Amino acid sequence: MSTTRMAFEQLPSVVISAVEERTGPVLKTESATEGRNSQVGARVHSESGVCFIKGLRSDHTWAWTQRREADVNPHIRKVAPALLWEVETDGWHLLSFEALEGHHADYSADSPDLPLVADALCRLGRIPCPDVELRRAEQRLAKYVNNTGDAEQFAGNSLLHTDMNNANVLIDGRASLVDWAWATRGAPWLDAAYWVIWLMAAGGHTAASAEHWARRIPAWHAAPGVAVNAFAQAHANLWEEIGGDEPDPWTARMVRASREWARHRSTARAMARQVR
Ligand SMILES: Nc1ncnc2c1ncn2[C@@H]1O[C@H](COP(=O)(O)OP(=O)(O)OP(=O)(O)O)[C@@H](O)[C@H]1O
Ligand SMILES: [Mg+2]
Repeated sequence: MSTTRMAFEQLPSVVISAVEERTGPVLKTESATEGRNSQVGARVHSESGVCFIKGLRSDHTWAWTQRREADVNPHIRKVAPALLWEVETDGWHLLSFEALEGHHADYSADSPDLPLVADALCRLGRIPCPDVELRRAEQRLAKYVNNTGDAEQFAGNSLLHTDMNNANVLIDGRASLVDWAWATRGAPWLDAAYWVIWLMAAGGHTAASAEHWARRIPAWHAAPGVAVNAFAQAHANLWEEIGGDEPDPWTARMVRASREWARHRSTARAMARQVR
């Protein structure tokens, strides 16, 4: 489900006043071009500087994702912008973050952004999983694995981002990860695996070259091959379900990439059996 984005100025006046109590008078706003989940997402310029504000109505199905982002933020400052304040009033919940400059990560094959993204995932891997309520990878993926019980291989105690969409990675000399709505607890190699699918979807990466980038993340090396195979297949199933019969072009890329990766993994497994 995606949400219709509205301009910051369309918020109720009570909500805008609550913002201005914290920022001073708003001078200018720029709506984010990317992002499909927040009802409001904008860089807000005021006398006190610039911040990035995202918001959802408090009764929105996904209102809990705002809470998740706020709870996890103090623990992820080595990879993400700081939460400056939050406010809940007149039926709206807003989060205000330090505004980042920079561009969305370019995931194409020869992009200079790729080592920076790998570095951000390495930094994330060194953060201990905080004691906050998080989704669990094995529960999120249980419905999509081919064999009952396969999802248990995704369980673990690492903090994961799980939405490595390039629009959630901002590059400004180094990579920062935004949008922690789907922060999850699970096996340490999962974010590298999510990245493989996004790299392949960006175009220009084969499964082998995308996995080459995943190898930059130390946790990837400890990932059991069978668990990665199950992860790839689960995501082929997941994106097929999201895409349905007529996926939009964006979803169609994810369907193709995840299918291709799952096929690559099962072919590699069959070849390994023949060699033995
Ligand atoms: N701290 C920030 N500073 C500057 N720009 C930001 C910041 N955080 C997010 N953005 C920009 O706003 C866009 C939307 O933000 P975000 O991804 O957090 O919201 P979302 O609508 O929930 O997205 P999604 O649909 O991916 O869940 C990002 O793709 C990014 O371009
Ligand atoms: Mg996003």
